[in-house]
Amino acid sequence: MKKIAVIGSANTDLVFTTNIIPKMGETVSGERFEMNTGGKGANQAVAIARLGGNVTFFGSLGGDLFGEKIKQELKNENVTICIHDSQMHSGVAQVNLYDHDNSIIVIPGANADFEERFLEEVEARLDEFDFFVFQLEIDINVVDRLVKKIKMLPNKRILLNPAPAQRLTKSLLENSDYITPNEFEIEQIGIDADSTEAALRRYPGKLLVTLGAKGVTYFDQQQQVVTLVPGLTQLNVQDTTGAGDTFTGALSYALVNEYSLKDAIRFANVAAGLSITKVGAQAGMPRLKDVEGMLQR
Ligand code: RIB
Repeated sequence: MKKIAVIGSANTDLVFTTNIIPKMGETVSGERFEMNTGGKGANQAVAIARLGGNVTFFGSLGGDLFGEKIKQELKNENVTICIHDSQMHSGVAQVNLYDHDNSIIVIPGANADFEERFLEEVEARLDEFDFFVFQLEIDINVVDRLVKKIKMLPNKRILLNPAPAQRLTKSLLENSDYITPNEFEIEQIGIDADSTEAALRRYPGKLLVTLGAKGVTYFDQQQQVVTLVPGLTQLNVQDTTGAGDTFTGALSYALVNEYSLKDAIRFANVAAGLSITKVGAQAGMPRLKDVEGMLQR
């Protein structure tokens, strides 16, 4: 089985469900509290493992209770882990759920601490993997360095989920095989184009722009057309946290299993759609049979 490496962040999500958003200086009572494993990297690794993919997560955690719990939960999900034991606290995220949408504050902690010795350990293992997944909740310079190294190896593919959005280096734009911003992030990642279509045409088959419930659009090189792969509709939306991570993980799973780009996006759209029907970034991530069942309908 082909092997996927997810290199990135892990957090503990402190999830507050509330009917009132407090103003500055105000205290309000919320409805519900949950504590879940999250972080874009860990979420993407779990999404791949739920689908049956062979996935290793490389990340940095503190030697605290949160870090121990994240390690255990990743193992329970059949994610192989390679962890840097940081002196900093493990990453945490405050996730506010309000009116079926969310806002998130992340304190990166150990995620910002990929120290040199750990990076060398990761670099020494790059050749083991076929497909690499990155996000930007770790230092972009770390991502840039690893992507350059991977690009020197034969037959590797790289998917960069540029979230949270920031300006990409020229080499990240060139060396990533797939980049998945939403339509508002195109400019933020440093693509200067008059329209989404112009950006897609500039990066055919590489730039996959997510449009929320509408689906995903990209420029099909063979047909020479901008293509929209629609998302699932009429869902019972409970929590959209982690939907993008489910999309990224499922897309990686499908691409490493040699689906065409269009089929891989269709597969990932269904996985992401199913994921938002439960509260918690990872709670609703589907298994392979759930996605295949929905695709057959
Ligand atoms: O993408 C969702 C994730 O973003 C959450 O799990 C939270 O930890 C933040 O990293």
